[in-house]
Amino acid sequence: MKHVLINDSIVPEAEAQVSYKDRGYHFGDGIYEVIRIYQGAFFALDPHINRLFDSAEKIDIALPFSKQELVDRLNVLKEKEVVIDGSLYVQITRGAAERNHLYSREEQPILFGFTLPDKSNEANETNGISAYVTEDIRWLRCDIKSINLLGNVMAKRKASDHDCGEAVLYRENAVTEGSSSNLFLVNNKTLYTHPANNLILNGITRQEIIAVAAELGIDIVEEPFPKEVLAHADEAFVTSTSIEITPIHTFKGDVEATLTLGPITKQLQQALKKRIKTQTSASV
Ligand SMILES: Cc1ncc(COP(=O)(O)O)c(C=O)c1O
Repeated sequence: MKHVLINDSIVPEAEAQVSYKDRGYHFGDGIYEVIRIYQGAFFALDPHINRLFDSAEKIDIALPFSKQELVDRLNVLKEKEVVIDGSLYVQITRGAAERNHLYSREEQPILFGFTLPDKSNEANETNGISAYVTEDIRWLRCDIKSINLLGNVMAKRKASDHDCGEAVLYRENAVTEGSSSNLFLVNNKTLYTHPANNLILNGITRQEIIAVAAELGIDIVEEPFPKEVLAHADEAFVTSTSIEITPIHTFKGDVEATLTLGPITKQLQQALKKRIKTQTSASV
């Protein structure tokens, strides 16, 4: 039987209920994380927990538990669900209250978590995907991992309607990120990606890749670049907790180009997998 985490309790899925007054439903008023589990161990747990607490602070939610208390609860859920390879979704909404734009700071935040089995992304990691280049219509606080993802889900749908696996977004002509991923490109052996400011989510995978690239001696430039540059990239890839490093072989939409799957992407893929293996086997 599947179990979910609600606040400090693990309950059978059938008994997992949330209030219709939850501000998550009314306003998308909450935050979340997706944490990967490899070989029964969380990968990059601390950065995810830190980002969740940062997101909470940025939207003025005072969390009624410590980081360690949250980690303990997530571990209990992981053990109960016996996940070897998969992921854990955790969200916190501001709480349940009469519908009102104005929140009172009296609401009790509601924690919710469940696990998901591994969905293999191996074929995409090997063969690459097409990406649909389209305007970034989201708000100006994309650094917050908010559950309010309307701009992201609309972009993802548009990409899929054009047979693309991801949308690549641009704002005022500068490429920001994917609809649920960060974007990197390679030109002349240098790695380019948007800086971690309010216009993108600073992905945990993005941060891991920047660390891995530094270890490999690959130059990294964190600066905005115009969307036209995508057409001349030697290599391009998107990254996230779920898809790790997934190469892009075709851009469609507002930029059209065909790319080859290149050596730097492969080198980074191998190095990231090695890092994951080392870190997760060390913690079990
Ligand atoms: C908009 C957006 N950017 C980037 C990412 C990648 O973040 P991470 O590597 O922490 O999964 C995600 C992941 O969901 C995302 O939704």
